[in-house]
Amino acid sequence: MSTARRVDYQQKFRFNWLNDPKYKDWLKPVENDRSRAYCTFCRVGTYAKLSDLKKHLISKKHRAAAEKHGIRYALSPSPSMSSSQPEQGHLSNTFEMGENGHSSGRIPLADTVIGFIGAGKMAQSIAQGLLLSGVVIPSQVYATAPSTSNAEWWRNRGVDFCQKSNTQIVNVCDVIFLAMKPQQLPSTLSQLAVEAAGVRQKQKQIVISVVSGVTLSQLSEGLVAARLVEPMIFRIVTNTAAEIRKSCSVYSTLLSSDLESKKKVKALLGSFGLVEEVPESQLNQFTALIGSGPAFMYVIIEALADGAVKSGLPRALALKFAAQMVSGASSMVLESGKHPGQLKDEVCSPAGTTIHGIGELENRGVRAAMMNAIQAAANRCQELSQFVSK
Ligand SMILES: NC(=O)c1ccc[n+]([C@@H]2O[C@H](COP(=O)([O-])OP(=O)(O)OC[C@H]3O[C@@H](n4cnc5c(N)ncnc54)[C@H](OP(=O)(O)O)[C@@H]3O)[C@@H](O)[C@H]2O)c1
Repeated sequence: MSTARRVDYQQKFRFNWLNDPKYKDWLKPVENDRSRAYCTFCRVGTYAKLSDLKKHLISKKHRAAAEKHGIRYALSPSPSMSSSQPEQGHLSNTFEMGENGHSSGRIPLADTVIGFIGAGKMAQSIAQGLLLSGVVIPSQVYATAPSTSNAEWWRNRGVDFCQKSNTQIVNVCDVIFLAMKPQQLPSTLSQLAVEAAGVRQKQKQIVISVVSGVTLSQLSEGLVAARLVEPMIFRIVTNTAAEIRKSCSVYSTLLSSDLESKKKVKALLGSFGLVEEVPESQLNQFTALIGSGPAFMYVIIEALADGAVKSGLPRALALKFAAQMVSGASSMVLESGKHPGQLKDEVCSPAGTTIHGIGELENRGVRAAMMNAIQAAANRCQELSQFVSK
């Protein structure tokens, strides 16, 4: 393996370690050496290699120190650095899309360069999900924006952030995410039209828009005007849970998009959560469900915690358990394959506590409120997309 590839490989591992919930509290970066990290329990350094970490985790010194801190699980490497990843040799950022839409068909992403035009919240969530999953490493990612207000976030993760550098993105990236506000898109495309004229463009480029409300045909017209040559165009809806790899994403694309580009987009989005292809006509409804839905759930979780506090529980515990309970209920629906109505019936005993609570929810119209919330958000999304198109 060449030195550059080995360093890339070690950086990827180190990045995974430093962000893995199992390790991040005690494994810290060695300043000025991107290939090493050190253990704050034992005060020893380890190279970003699976064998070094394994040796370290099973050393007597580390086990004693970790157990003192109540950490017993530190003996097995996490999935993000499991032995399925080669220790030496080629980079392992190929992965598979499974039945549930998560990462199976091996898609090579080791040579895919990703660029973000627009470097704000949404771009950061997606980039964080991609980097955490390990499908790409920081040196494969570029970001640009008109100002440097978000530069630090990208540079802290080893990503090349260049201000006002749309042309660099067009020049070097295979996949370009458009991640600006809808009203900022026209100016971005006009800038591109001027700047990208004459710029050598990568072959078979994929453009993925996260910009709400801008249709595939509008994107297509805008990109032709911006002189981008025949990119494969995708529109996606996702949410900020991408940054913890618990997102759900849908994408739509034009009939002209080839299978290879669809697989690549599915692989990228699948690296940070569920993913499905859907008709473009459904994107407003999906924006309401998976884009706005998390906010609705935050309200519900907060209200559940408030109820628990009202009935005497301490706030911090109430909130933590409300959130975990909602997460558990979601997993039951996804993993048991049972209808939520059946799951609900299974926990409502005659004249019991739960059916009394359900009765109150029905009296207050919670079901209708949730249905109307999704519909109102979808309608608003429709209105906004008409506004964007004017
Ligand atoms: N599809 C989805 O699932 C989903 C979910 C949520 C949000 N969204 C959409 O995602 C988009 C981004 O939202 P956000 O919350 O990330 O916005 P944000 O935090 O405001 O970020 C917007 C970014 O675009 C940059 N920008 C502005 N004009 C530009 C130009 N001419 N060229 C290049 N970059 C430019 C901004 O630059 P500065 O840093 O210099 O300000 C900023 O970095 C929005 O369209 C939003 O509706 C989509």
